[in-house]
Amino acid sequence: MIAYSLIKVIHIITAILMAWPFYALAIVNQRARLGPPLGDRVDLYMETIIKNRVVPCYIFQATALASGFVMILLSAQGFIAFFNNPILAAKFTLLLIISAILSYVHFKLQPQIDGLFHELAAAPSQDIAARIGQLRLQRKKAASVCLFNVLTISMLGVQAWKPFSGWVTVLLLVLIAAFTWRVYKQPPSYGWI
Ligand code: HEM
Repeated sequence: MIAYSLIKVIHIITAILMAWPFYALAIVNQRARLGPPLGDRVDLYMETIIKNRVVPCYIFQATALASGFVMILLSAQGFIAFFNNPILAAKFTLLLIISAILSYVHFKLQPQIDGLFHELAAAPSQDIAARIGQLRLQRKKAASVCLFNVLTISMLGVQAWKPFSGWVTVLLLVLIAAFTWRVYKQPPSYGWI
């Protein structure tokens, strides 16, 4: 059905655009390698880019949810599939988790980081610098969980209507976890490794 195919194209393009945590981790790892001083224009540049990604992230999440629901509605089984199909339930739950993580970073961590940068500008201190470092580390961990979830949701999407064997799914989960760990530690120089 052409309508289903068009929605699927939108769904897949949305999934591609949700790769931001992969690139964000490359940026923050590079910032850590650069070292001091803390609070100069490099930090302003990086923090502004990260903050400006929040609204697009919410919009892509909403688009993935809406296009996913429309595909279920248009499917042979109709909307009841959402309640009968554990893969769709898992995709939905993981989407809720990344939405919650994004909200936590935006409403809790980011205002604290911004506040500490203001304090640092007024009166530089080792203590403030250390607290910024801790909060940034928490934000980096949150981005890694988001990356793991987005890759997992995509992997589950491929088997939405025709599930893989359990062991294949477990193997793919292990590979996704290993890749996410690699990106968390240091951006892979050769794409995958
Ligand atoms: C972060 C959010 C999401 C991402 C990154 C994502 C990604 C993907 C990807 C890559 C596919 C594979 C398409 C293919 O087989 O060619 C897919 C399929 C699918 N997704 Fe999602 N998805 C997301 C959220 C959702 C949600 C919330 C739902 C609905 C509960 C949903 C429903 C579906 C359905 C029904 C398919 C099967 C399409 C088909 O093979 O015909 N997705 N998704």
